[in-house]
Amino acid sequence: MRDASKWWRPPAFGLAAVFLSAAAAFAQSGPSAETLQLCAACHGEDGNSKIEKIPSLAGQPAFFILNQLFLMREGVRKVEAMAPIVKDLKDDDLNTLSQHYAKLPAKRSDEPVDAALARRGAEISTARRCGSCHLPSLAGQEQMPRVARQRIDYLVETLKSYRDSPRPGADTAMSAAIVGASDADIAALAHYAASL
Ligand code: HEC
Ligand code: HEC
Repeated sequence: MRDASKWWRPPAFGLAAVFLSAAAAFAQSGPSAETLQLCAACHGEDGNSKIEKIPSLAGQPAFFILNQLFLMREGVRKVEAMAPIVKDLKDDDLNTLSQHYAKLPAKRSDEPVDAALARRGAEISTARRCGSCHLPSLAGQEQMPRVARQRIDYLVETLKSYRDSPRPGADTAMSAAIVGASDADIAALAHYAASL
């Protein structure tokens, strides 16, 4: 009995091994160079955007990117600039693109951060419990985006849109989290997140 137990593996081990080899097979086939070039024109060569109001993708949780690309392809989240590109992407492309950008390091943009605003933003973030979903580091998890080091102009715009006119397909939890915030509060939150 004792000897046999040495060789026994819980079923979960076998399952994990299957997942791992599937993940390894995945890692070998990245997105095509042509597709990446299209994305790079707007989101930056290394996934860190240098263009006003275009979000950086580097270091976003893979599941968040996958979810947003899916919503865009299905026409639920409408991003006009991307519509002609996402409509031709296959499920596999969505997967490999998400894995690709999730692995790249997130860098701060070159927008100046106002230290006083950032301090105020830290207080608002604590009071509104932004970290309860986006993690205390605001690095994001699962379907919740990385907010840390995102472009300030994009954060301001997107937070206002969650507050004023939640985009179709957007998570209602996020609109609830920002309800009643003033424009000044939103600016402070954006400077705080960008400063991390
Ligand atoms: C012509 C410019 C342009 C191109 C090309 C482009 N995007 Fe975008 N993308 C945008 C803009 C603008 C937004 C923000 C839209 C908004 O304000 O909601 C965006 C948003 C996104 C988002 C959501 C990010 C977030 O933080 O909410 C993802 C994911 C994304 N793009 C991935 C891609 C991928 C992958 C490609 C290449 C297949 C690509 N984009 C090509 C302009 C572009
Ligand atoms: C209850 C969970 C929850 C809380 C609390 C929360 N968020 Fe979110 N947030 C989300 C989810 C989920 C999304 C993605 C929603 C979607 O799919 O549109 C999101 C999206 C965002 C985005 C869009 C980023 C992008 O790249 O498109 C920003 C910015 C953001 N949150 C900032 C904040 C801030 C700042 C706070 C605190 C004031 C906060 N969130 C509190 C769940 C939450």
